[in-house]
Amino acid sequence: TGRDPVNNLKIERDGAVVTVRLHRPHVRNALSGDLLAELLDALRPLDADPEVGCFVVTGSEKVFAAGADIKEMAGRTAAQMAAEDYFGAWEGFTALRTPKIAAVNGYALGGGCELAMMCDLVIAGESAVFGQPEIKLGVIPGIGGTQRLTRLVGRAKAMDLILTGRTMDAREAGSCGLVSRVVPDDRVLPEALEAAATIASYGRAAVTAARECVDRALETGLRDGILFERRLFHALFATEDQKEGMSAFLEKRPPRFTGR
Ligand code: HXC
Repeated sequence: TGRDPVNNLKIERDGAVVTVRLHRPHVRNALSGDLLAELLDALRPLDADPEVGCFVVTGSEKVFAAGADIKEMAGRTAAQMAAEDYFGAWEGFTALRTPKIAAVNGYALGGGCELAMMCDLVIAGESAVFGQPEIKLGVIPGIGGTQRLTRLVGRAKAMDLILTGRTMDAREAGSCGLVSRVVPDDRVLPEALEAAATIASYGRAAVTAARECVDRALETGLRDGILFERRLFHALFATEDQKEGMSAFLEKRPPRFTGR
C-alpha cells in the first residue's frame, strides 16, 4: 500500500511556530488516509520537540478542506470500514498536545469542518463557509462532527446543520461558537501566526494545563471540572515558569518563560 507519491502537505517552521498547509488542490484538500498519515508523521516529532509551541493548520485561499476523501471511501464495504476503524486514526491528531490553530479561508466542509473543530482555536476569514453536508452523501459526519458540533454550538443548530446539510457563513459560525475570531480574508494567516507566537511565548505547562482544563469542561460535570482545574492550578506552582511569571509581574519586567 504505497503512499500517494505527491506531497499532500507543506510544512514550515518559524521559531516555535509550525505551519501545516494542506495541499491537495485537485481534490479541494480532501482528507485522505495518506494525508492524515503524512500529517501525523510530520507533527508527532514536532509535538515532542520542547522548542515547538504551537501548530497552525491552514489550506488555500479557496478551501480549507472539502471533507474526507469521497473517492477513497465510496467503494468500501461496512466490513472494511469497521476492520480498518476508518477515521479512527484521527484520534492521533487530537492526541497531539501542542496547541493547534485552524486558519480557515474558504470551504471547511464535512471532515474539513471536523478538522477545524479538532483544533483549539479557529480563526476564519469573512468568506469562509462551514458545514456538515454528509447527509447529502447518504452518511453522517464520521470524524466527531455530531459530537463536537453539538457541544460547541448546541443541539438546535447542530441538528439544523447536520440534518439539512446546509452551510453557514463565517459570521454565523462566529456568533454560534464554532469560530474563535472572524477576520478579513487576508488577515487569517497573519492573525493565526500572531496568536500562535503569543501562545508559544508562554510557559508550556500552563498552556497544556489550560487546554486540558477547557476541553475537560465539555466532557465532565461542573464539580469535577472545577476540582480538575484547581488541582492543575496547584501543580503549576511546581514550575519555574510560575515563579518567573509572578516575579516578573511584581518586578515590572517582561517574563522569560523557559518551559521548566
Ligand atoms: C474527494 C473531492 C472532494 C472530497 C471535492 N472533490 N471535494 N474529492 N473528496 N471531499 C473533488 C471533486 O470531485 C472534483 O474532482 C474536484 O475536487 C473539484 O471539485 P469541484 O466540486 O468541481 O470544485 P468547486 O466547484 O470549487 O466546489 C468546491 C466544493 C465542492 C464546494 C468544496 O467540491 C464540494 O461540495 N465538495 C464536497 C463537500 C462534501 O460533501 N464534503 C463532505 C465529505 S464526507 P474532479 O475529478 O471532478 O476534478 C466527509 C465525512 C464523511 O467529510 C463521513 C462519513 C463516514
